Amino acid sequence: MLTKINEAVSFIQNLYNHKPTVGIVLGSGLSSFASEITVEKEIAYSDIPHFPVSTVEGHSGKLVFGELSGKKVIAMAGRFHYYEGYNTQEVVFPIRVMKYLGIETLLVTNAAGGTHKEWNVGDLMIIKDHISQLTPNPLIGKNYKEFGPRFPDMSEPYKKDLINKVKTIAAAKDIKLREGVYFGVTGPTFETRAEYNMIHILGGDAVGMSTVQEVIVAVHMGLAVFGMSVITDIGIRDEENKITHDEVLQAAKDAEPKLSYIFKELIAQL
Ligand code: HPA
Repeated sequence: MLTKINEAVSFIQNLYNHKPTVGIVLGSGLSSFASEITVEKEIAYSDIPHFPVSTVEGHSGKLVFGELSGKKVIAMAGRFHYYEGYNTQEVVFPIRVMKYLGIETLLVTNAAGGTHKEWNVGDLMIIKDHISQLTPNPLIGKNYKEFGPRFPDMSEPYKKDLINKVKTIAAAKDIKLREGVYFGVTGPTFETRAEYNMIHILGGDAVGMSTVQEVIVAVHMGLAVFGMSVITDIGIRDEENKITHDEVLQAAKDAEPKLSYIFKELIAQL
């Protein structure tokens, strides 16, 4: 695994020799955020040794390097999901590569289903914590001391100081934010009503098919993480409520400008 990471890192550094300090994972429907970056280099996942290749509609599948708010950043336009058939090591591989390219902060985004009836499609939710007991833990197996400890602390996976910065940024611009717990599931089915209800009872404010595995390895490697969900559907409602991937993508696209503003301001303050 270390060899694979080193090979991917060397390949990238041969094409782009600046050290990025911030990594950004763009979720479903959120790839247009990459256009905010003054792009210096783009590298397709399919060109990078050992990188998996994204298959889902709405995920364009490249690393975008450049400058944003005065910082060198890498954005992952498209991520790898467990439901696509990748194993957990593949899902988290790019996060490890970004760490070895030099990032210190990881910003993650996703589209997620809300489990509060009174929430609305398009709401942004600060991820204050997550529940990750229904997806395999990516640290199962040999522990690489180079990455971090065998039993990592998870008391503050999403850094409080980053959360507080975002709250201040949003308040100054009158952007309303939710704050809650992201509940990770495997997908690819959206949840049944009973499952949305269960997730709500168990403390999940939003549910989604990504993020938790990436955040676990990021925390393991000592990265400071901030996460934001775009609420793209409210599965828990009693009325007829079919959810489609197209609606999820559209809702994410519609909410993207608010999220872009917040991320640009946050990156300026890092
Ligand atoms: N459930 C799981 N994943 C999701 C959802 C959802 O309702 N919406 C977007 N991703």
